[in-house]
Amino acid sequence: MNLNRVELRGFRNYGDSQARFSPEINVISGRNAQGKTNLLEAIYVLCTGKSFRARSDRELIGFAEDEARLYAEGVSDGRDRRLELKLRRGRRREMTVNGVKQKTAQSFSGFFSAVLFCPEDLELIRGGAAQRRRLMDNCISQLRPRYAAALNEFNKAYESKTRILRDYREKPSLLPLLDEYDYRLAQMSAEIIHLRALFTDGLGPESARIHAEFSGGERMRMKYTTVSTVDDPRRPVSQLLELILEHQRGHRQAELATGLCLTGAHKDDLEIEINGAPARAFASQGQARTAALSIKLAELELHRKARGEYPLLLLDDVLSELDATRQDFILNRIGGGQVFITCCEDEKIAARTGGKVFTVENGDVKEA
Ligand SMILES: Nc1ncnc2c1ncn2[C@@H]1O[C@H](COP(=O)(O)OP(=O)(O)OP(=O)(O)O)[C@@H](O)[C@H]1O
Ligand SMILES: [Mg+2]
Repeated sequence: MNLNRVELRGFRNYGDSQARFSPEINVISGRNAQGKTNLLEAIYVLCTGKSFRARSDRELIGFAEDEARLYAEGVSDGRDRRLELKLRRGRRREMTVNGVKQKTAQSFSGFFSAVLFCPEDLELIRGGAAQRRRLMDNCISQLRPRYAAALNEFNKAYESKTRILRDYREKPSLLPLLDEYDYRLAQMSAEIIHLRALFTDGLGPESARIHAEFSGGERMRMKYTTVSTVDDPRRPVSQLLELILEHQRGHRQAELATGLCLTGAHKDDLEIEINGAPARAFASQGQARTAALSIKLAELELHRKARGEYPLLLLDDVLSELDATRQDFILNRIGGGQVFITCCEDEKIAARTGGKVFTVENGDVKEA
C-alpha cells in the first residue's frame, strides 16, 4: 500500500500544502518546529482515523483556522483510494473514502495501516506500562476493528466509573450507577484481554526472532500480564468476564476507600525478559534499545502477515537517536513498503537511504 499524494489545509501549522510521495522511501527534512512531525501525524490520522498525540480533534485545527482538511490519494489491496477528512470547530468531523461518507473513525480507518516509530518508543522496555499498552492498542486496533470499538467503550466506562469513585462522597446519588459501569468495564476488559493475549502470542516470538538476529543470540521473552484472577488470558471472553467480575467483587471495598479503579485492562503490562532477567529492571541501555527496535520491526511483520502487504512505516526522528549499527539494522529492514522518515536538515540520512527528499518549512512541504 502507498499514498501517492497528500494535501493539507489548515491542519496544525500547515497553510495550504501538497506533496507527491515516492512509493519507497521518503525523507522529510527541516529545522525544528517546521511541521515534520505534523506531516507524519496527518498521514497517521488519514490511515487510522486518530492521532498518536492529540487528545481531541480541536488540537489538529490550525490556531487561526476554523477548518482543517486532510486529503490523500493512494493504493491499497490493489485498489485506488481517495481519503478525505474535514475537521471543523464545534462540529462533527466529516470523513469520506472514494467520495463515500464514513460515519465513524473505525469505518474510515483500515484502508491503510501505519506503524509509527518515535524516540519515545526506544523507551518501550524500560519505560512505564502505559507505553507498552499503547503499543498493543495502536497495533491491535488496526488489525482488529472489534478491538478499537471495545477500547473506546472501555475508556468511556472507565471515565464514568472513576468519576463516581471520586465524587460519591459529595454526591451519594451517584453510587447506584456503579454496578452498571462495573459490569460494562468488566465486559470490555474481557474482550480487550482476550485479543491482547492472542496478539502477544504473535508479537512475542516474532520480536524474539528479530532480537536474536540483531543482538547476536540474546533470548527475549514476552509475557502478557493482566487481572490477577485471570489464570489464562486466552480463555474465551465469557470465562474471562466471570474471572474479572470475581476480582472486581473482591476489590469493591478497596475501590470505594481509595477512589481508584482497581480492576480492568487499564493495568495490563507486557513483561519482557532478556536472557532470563526482567528487562525493565536489568537491561542495559543498549539492550533495551535493541529490544525496542526488534519489537517495532515485529509489529511491522505482523501487519504484513495480516494484510499481505507492508503497512506505511513512519519513522519520526528515530534514526538520529541510534548509533550507526542500529541505524543500518533498521535501514536494511525497511525496504518493501512505503516509508516516511523525518530528520533534521543537517543529517546525512537522505543520502544513505537513497530516498526521495522533501523539506518542510513553516507548514509547507516541498520536494528538495
Ligand atoms: N493546532 C495548531 N495550529 C498551529 N500550529 C500548531 C498547531 N499544533 C502545533 N502547531 C505548531 O506546529 C509547529 C511544528 O510542529 P512539529 O511537531 O511538526 O515540528 P517538527 O518539524 O517535527 O520539529 P522537531 O524537529 O522539533 O521535531 C510547532 O511550532 C507547533 O507549535
Ligand atoms: Mg518532530
